[in-house]
Amino acid sequence: MPGLVIPFVDLKTQYQAIKPQIQDRINRVLEHGKYIMGPEVEELEYKLASYVGVKHCITVASGTEALLISLMTHDIGAGNEVITTPFSFVSTAEVIVLLGAKPVFVDIEPDTCNINATLIEAAITPRTRAIIPVSLYGQPSNMDDINEIAARHGNIPVIEDAAQSFGASYKGKKSCNLSTIGCTSFFPSKPLGCYGDGGAIFTNDDNIAQACREIRVHGQSKRYTHTRIGVGGRMDTLQCAVVLAKFERFEHEVVRRIEIGNRYNQLFDTVNISRVRQRSDRTSVYAQYTLFVEQRESRQRALLHAGIPTAIHYPMPLNEQPAYKNLDSAEQTPRALENAQRVLSLPMSADLSESDQNRIIEVLTSC
Ligand SMILES: Cc1ncc(COP(=O)(O)O)c(C=O)c1O
Repeated sequence: MPGLVIPFVDLKTQYQAIKPQIQDRINRVLEHGKYIMGPEVEELEYKLASYVGVKHCITVASGTEALLISLMTHDIGAGNEVITTPFSFVSTAEVIVLLGAKPVFVDIEPDTCNINATLIEAAITPRTRAIIPVSLYGQPSNMDDINEIAARHGNIPVIEDAAQSFGASYKGKKSCNLSTIGCTSFFPSKPLGCYGDGGAIFTNDDNIAQACREIRVHGQSKRYTHTRIGVGGRMDTLQCAVVLAKFERFEHEVVRRIEIGNRYNQLFDTVNISRVRQRSDRTSVYAQYTLFVEQRESRQRALLHAGIPTAIHYPMPLNEQPAYKNLDSAEQTPRALENAQRVLSLPMSADLSESDQNRIIEVLTSC
């Protein structure tokens, strides 16, 4: 019989550590009653922009909405192509298709699972209007090379899908400050999460920021004047209040995540279990801790029996998904296909204890 179950993402321990701050923040919103665009929205945007080191932060309803609005700021639509990775959560490609554009999937690096920058140039056509690299599992892609290719081809905007990488860095710069636009998610299990849906867009470009602010409120430039097509894309005040409370502990959590991720790395290397590699010029925030394993299903069962939940990020590349495979897209992405068969994510949180980590390794080495 399983012993105690190790949470896949431990939000309960986190809540216990910041309960008074969360309750105080929520109570303040209940008292002032400004549930939409209340003062917490601006406070959060200011704090997150300073943390990331960019001029503008625009909070939005989710990470998906952040990506959608970012593409809308560049009027992307029918006849356009957007280069991205097939090895991601579906939102990354969904927003492209929703706008009537075509996703062009470029294969991944087998060891990091991030888009392979050396393959991007060959995928660029006169119709290419954006590139969306995903900072998968919390580790940015090779952003210097991607930005350089984009600049050389007429300044194609680069939109970092940083849904999993808030708090990570690349050559000393924070994720979300690595390209034209950075988009993150505050989904509860993300490195910085709220208690529902939320997200944010980051940019140094004043015009893009202004367009994002208008698009998130139905394209409104002033009350009831709709100068562009927009969406109902605001993040509500209560969720901003939750992120503000969690943000007080965030730097500590990032340090803990990195320690825990690095400890996993050392332990797995010692027992020769293959894992996602981290590049030395990047600091992953380990949104997921992911291994490469054979006999995945039986290992998952053995782990579950021992009280260790696991997850697969992701079991099928996006260009193989039923809704996406017929999108007039002939791209072959063999590395993504291969990795989809062997990735396995383990419990990962800022509060994961050393003893739980040891238990996970013990079970994995014996199954
Ligand atoms: C890589 C990636 N992109 C986009 C999203 C979408 O974020 P949200 O769930 O906040 O819409 C996610 C969330 O799981 C994600 O992991």
